[in-house]
Amino acid sequence: MCGIIGFTGKQPAKDILIDGLAKLEYRGYDSAGIALLNDDDTLIIKKKAGRVDDLRQLCSDKDYTSTCGIGHTRWATHGGVTDVNAHPHKCGNVALIHNGIIENYGEIVREFGLQDKLISETDTEVVAALLDTLYDGDPIYTIRKAVKKIAGSFALCIMFSDKPGVIYAVRNVSPMVAAYSDEGAIIASDLTAVISFSKEYFVVPEYHILTLSETGIKVEDMKGNVVTPQMLEITWDITAAQKGGYPHFMLKEIYEQPEALRNTITPRIVNSLPDFTEDGIDDEVFKNCQNITVVACGTAMHAGMIGKAMIESELKIPVNVEIASEFRYKEPLIDDKTLVIVTSQSGETIDTLEALRLAKRCGSKVLSIVNVKGSTIARESDYVFYTHAGPEIAVASTKAYSVQMAAMYLIGCRIGLVKGIYTEDRAKEFVKQLLGVIPVIEETLEQANKVKAVANFIKMAPDAFFIGRGIDYTLSLEAALKLKEISYVHAEAYAAGELKHGTIALITENVPVIALATQDAVYGKVISNIREVKARGAYVILISMDEKVEDADICNKHIRIPKQDGLFTVFSAAVILQLIAYYTSDAKGLDVDKPRNLAKSVTVE
Ligand code: AGP
Repeated sequence: MCGIIGFTGKQPAKDILIDGLAKLEYRGYDSAGIALLNDDDTLIIKKKAGRVDDLRQLCSDKDYTSTCGIGHTRWATHGGVTDVNAHPHKCGNVALIHNGIIENYGEIVREFGLQDKLISETDTEVVAALLDTLYDGDPIYTIRKAVKKIAGSFALCIMFSDKPGVIYAVRNVSPMVAAYSDEGAIIASDLTAVISFSKEYFVVPEYHILTLSETGIKVEDMKGNVVTPQMLEITWDITAAQKGGYPHFMLKEIYEQPEALRNTITPRIVNSLPDFTEDGIDDEVFKNCQNITVVACGTAMHAGMIGKAMIESELKIPVNVEIASEFRYKEPLIDDKTLVIVTSQSGETIDTLEALRLAKRCGSKVLSIVNVKGSTIARESDYVFYTHAGPEIAVASTKAYSVQMAAMYLIGCRIGLVKGIYTEDRAKEFVKQLLGVIPVIEETLEQANKVKAVANFIKMAPDAFFIGRGIDYTLSLEAALKLKEISYVHAEAYAAGELKHGTIALITENVPVIALATQDAVYGKVISNIREVKARGAYVILISMDEKVEDADICNKHIRIPKQDGLFTVFSAAVILQLIAYYTSDAKGLDVDKPRNLAKSVTVE
């Protein structure tokens, strides 16, 4: 999952590339580099392990006037985090950058005898060497030949030293968008690097070769037919992709959740009922489904699990939630009576995309819940429910999780209505309760300081446990992921009733246990489980709707969430859990938005 950018136009490219990389850095931040193509056919490469700011420093050594260049911020797949393995890679006349995985790079090295041309450990450099070997002065013909040899996912931006001012690009699976204006032509992994350049863009079609020059962008298919791409409009403004005064994107996005939910839910409410007419989602797909399979990864999968809890408890329709990377390698028990719901914030997660393709091969209809308009998963789905959370920059997903849960709830409500399981009155009541979570989240956010105090305790712990029952246990899975991925505190979610069957052996003095007790039906049981861990020295943080908790044998800290129907407490409790992770990471002085080893969109397997 890397960030790539290319620019050619009237202005010097260096700062455009580096500023663009700064916006794309959330996609991967092990190393960064740029290549600049001068009119005298010289190719300059500046690159190093480290962040984009380190690259900016490296490029401050002189005034680079080239108006054509490519840039890359890396999440290492093949080869360690070193200056040599950083992109761009250059071989002879060719310089290129790449996002993806070339699966047959070893075969290519052997078939074309490229070993002596290589100095890095990367699969990407093999493509540069292949192109240089094949190059006969015709870039399009050369790229066409090379692409036929490559297996895997790729988004490539390529420059040939004897073609000044021109960038070529081609993709398969890995994302790329392109735009042009009077200033020139730009291409990048996603819109965050394009929006300051143009509000109009197009998604680069797969296996089409782009030629970017100062005057515009030519798109041709593999047979050389020129095609006109479908232009799209960016629906959010540039401030949405900036911190807006917050110390981190993650905190901003936690606080954006009320607005994100409002923007996602409200457009789909007509006469107080869920209505997907504007989304083009046909009720037939709900009428025909006898069971549902949700396929996703990470937080998106956890949102799907919350949707399962709602649909099964309210509609008694079986919902199977699958980890996409597992689903795609099994013979799934789905068919034309199965509605497959694919959830993905980025719409580019390769495991989720391949799972979608498998589901369609099995004859199931696919409805995707996606936050990025025009993304690959959206384009390959039968139906798309776009969430309107705006760009989510922090690697740790927060507002996307909330709107994905809301999307699942709205879909569940629509299914209930269409199948006659819900009366109109029940559906209207449900919608009212769903909309009701918005002010409740706003009220919950007022407790941020109380959460901060709790985080100061957790930050010193090597391990932490999240426990709950029912939908609280499901939410605990997401809470544990959040804490782990940004604070590096090892966290585990556990069904509260299951602890005593082994794991309670790990509960000793001051081990933090964050207990969720928002479900009336099992409240007493959870409190008993809490007493069991408290009796063994745990430091218990209780999240519940209780006005007050006096009994010191229950918890060390109590964080109250407003009273709500148990199906809807997940939204406000999720905010508390996100803040716990955020403040713990911040208290440890970590890079909250760009945690180690991670990247925002997992476009490699
Ligand atoms: C979220 O905090 C994680 N960074 C990660 O689990 C993410 O949810 C997962 O990679 C799925 O991404 P997607 O929603 O873009 O498909």
